[in-house]
Amino acid sequence: MKLYNGGLIITGIVVFLALAFFPFYYNIGKVNAKPEPKLEPAIKMSEKRFGKKQCVEPREFMRREHMVLLNNWRDSVVRDKNRRYSSEASGKTFNMSLQNECMQCHSSKKNFCDKCHTYMAVKPFCWDCHIEPKEKEGSKS
Ligand code: HEC
Ligand code: HEC
Ligand code: HEC
Repeated sequence: MKLYNGGLIITGIVVFLALAFFPFYYNIGKVNAKPEPKLEPAIKMSEKRFGKKQCVEPREFMRREHMVLLNNWRDSVVRDKNRRYSSEASGKTFNMSLQNECMQCHSSKKNFCDKCHTYMAVKPFCWDCHIEPKEKEGSKS
C-alpha cells in the first residue's frame, strides 16, 4: 500500500536526520546542561540544627557571594581572631570556618562545590591547605 511505503520513507528520513544531526544537539545539550550541586545532606543537617532549611545567608546571596563571604571569614579569623558570624537575615550564629562550618553541612566537596566549579572552570586553591572532607563512597548523600 502506498501509505505504508510513504510512512517507511518518512521514518527513514527522520532516522537519517536524527543521526546526521546527533553530534550537533548532543553538544548543545552539554553546553546548556546546568550544574546540579546536591543540596543533601546540607538540608537535613540544617533542619536538625535550626529546625528549617538554612544556609549561612539566603540561597541567592550564597550563590552569588559565597566567595566573598569566605574571604571575609578568613580575614576575620586570621586578622581579628574573631570566629563568630551573625547573619542578619536569619538571626543565626555561625562558626567562621571552611572545614568546621561550610563542610559540616556540605559534606561532599565532590557532589556540591565541584559540581559548579568544574562546570564554570574555576578551581579554588583552598584545598592546597584546607583539608577537604573524606568522600563516603557509595553513600547516597
Ligand atoms: C547549617 C548548614 C549549612 C551551612 C553551615 C552552610 N550551608 Fe550552604 N546551604 C545549606 C542549605 C540547606 C542550602 C540550600 C538553601 C535553600 O535551598 O534555601 C545551602 C545553599 C548553599 C549554596 C547555594 C547552592 C545552590 O545550588 O543554590 C551555596 C553556594 C552554599 N550553600 C555554600 C556554602 C558555603 C560556602 C558555606 C560556608 C561559608 C555554607 N554554604 C554553609 C546549608 C548550609
Ligand atoms: C551554585 C554553584 C556553586 C556552588 C554550589 C559552589 N560554588 Fe564556589 N563558585 C561558583 C562560581 C560560579 C564561582 C566563580 C565566580 C566568579 O568567578 O565570579 C565560584 C568561586 C568560588 C571561589 C573563588 C575561587 C576563585 O578562584 O575565584 C571559592 C573560594 C569558592 N567558590 C568556594 C566554594 C566552596 C567551598 C563551595 C562548597 C562549600 C562552593 N564554592 C560551592 C559557584 C559555586
Ligand atoms: C597557603 C595555605 C592556605 C590556602 C591556599 C588557603 N588557606 Fe584559608 N587558612 C589558612 C590558614 C593557615 C588559616 C588559619 C587557620 C586558623 O587560624 O584556624 C586559614 C583560615 C581560613 C578561614 C577561617 C578559619 C577556618 O577554619 O576556615 C577561612 C574561612 C579560610 N581560610 C578560607 C579559605 C579559602 C576560601 C581559601 C581558597 C580561596 C583558602 N582559605 C586558601 C591557610 C590557607
